[in-house]
Amino acid sequence: MNKDFISIHDITRYEFNELLDVALEIKEQPDKHRKALKGQVLAMIFEKPSLRTRMTFEVGMYELGGKGIYLSPAEIQLGKRETVEDVAHNLERWVDGIMIRTFGHDNVVRLARAASVPVINGLSDLSHPCQAMADFLTLREHKGGLSRLKLTYVGDGNNVCHSLMLAAAKAGTKMAVGTPKGYEPRPEMVKLALEDGKDTGFELLLTNDPKEAARDADAIYTDVWTSMGQESEKEARTKIFAPYQVNAALFAAAKPDAIFLHCLPAHREEEVSTEIFESYRSVVFDEAENRLHAQKAIMVTLMGNGKKNG
Ligand code: CP
Ligand code: NVA
Repeated sequence: MNKDFISIHDITRYEFNELLDVALEIKEQPDKHRKALKGQVLAMIFEKPSLRTRMTFEVGMYELGGKGIYLSPAEIQLGKRETVEDVAHNLERWVDGIMIRTFGHDNVVRLARAASVPVINGLSDLSHPCQAMADFLTLREHKGGLSRLKLTYVGDGNNVCHSLMLAAAKAGTKMAVGTPKGYEPRPEMVKLALEDGKDTGFELLLTNDPKEAARDADAIYTDVWTSMGQESEKEARTKIFAPYQVNAALFAAAKPDAIFLHCLPAHREEEVSTEIFESYRSVVFDEAENRLHAQKAIMVTLMGNGKKNG
């Protein structure tokens, strides 16, 4: 695998499946991996809030025998207090890996280019690859053969949607994306997914009709309508996205045993009805748990031969 984990586009189909296999193995036998990253340190840069990403990287490092150090938005002030490259050249002298959650995706790319240690994308405005790995692990556990499934994403064509498309392309999962006009996934991400998925069985339907997207789905996924950094658009978005709520009426178009996914945090009665969120269909906390296992797999794969280990 490459030095870094920045986009699912960057890994091969084989590496994608291998990461899911390792994640499952770690989930089933966590004790076998207690020393996998013994004595190693992960710096965790956060420019946005987090519950799941922070907890799962920190707990993950602890359970692998290492340690995660949280750096809050106020501490680093990436690009303001010092350049992204200078941050990289400091951190690489002390730690074995860096996780970054930031706004501009360019910050992730620049950090990875400058740092000699692995860099992991913990969410940017463009993508959220760790989330998609956890989601596909969850899909595999609940539904089996990823290549036979149809995953529907309804809502904002955002960072989470982009990474799900790239994961579906690697897995050969059929995908439908239903968004309002003007909120479709970015064309360059659609292009990458179609390129990556051309020999895998991947199919992609882009539509502005949520019902059409949901037809015969094995799983329906949604995310918040207003992502971190878009708060000033909240009022307008709440109106535009109202017809895109995931609720029982939408599920009526899906397969009878379809499941519900959401990366969380969720806003009940906005992007998802309380009824669906709290129903037997909802596997959202399995996804949250799987963040831990998926990211342990990513860290072991990238950092397993780290300097303190070898
Ligand atoms: N899903 C997710 O990334 O959650 P946090 O924003 O709480 O990390
Ligand atoms: N699209 C959301 C995901 C949060 C995990 C955001 O970027 O805020």
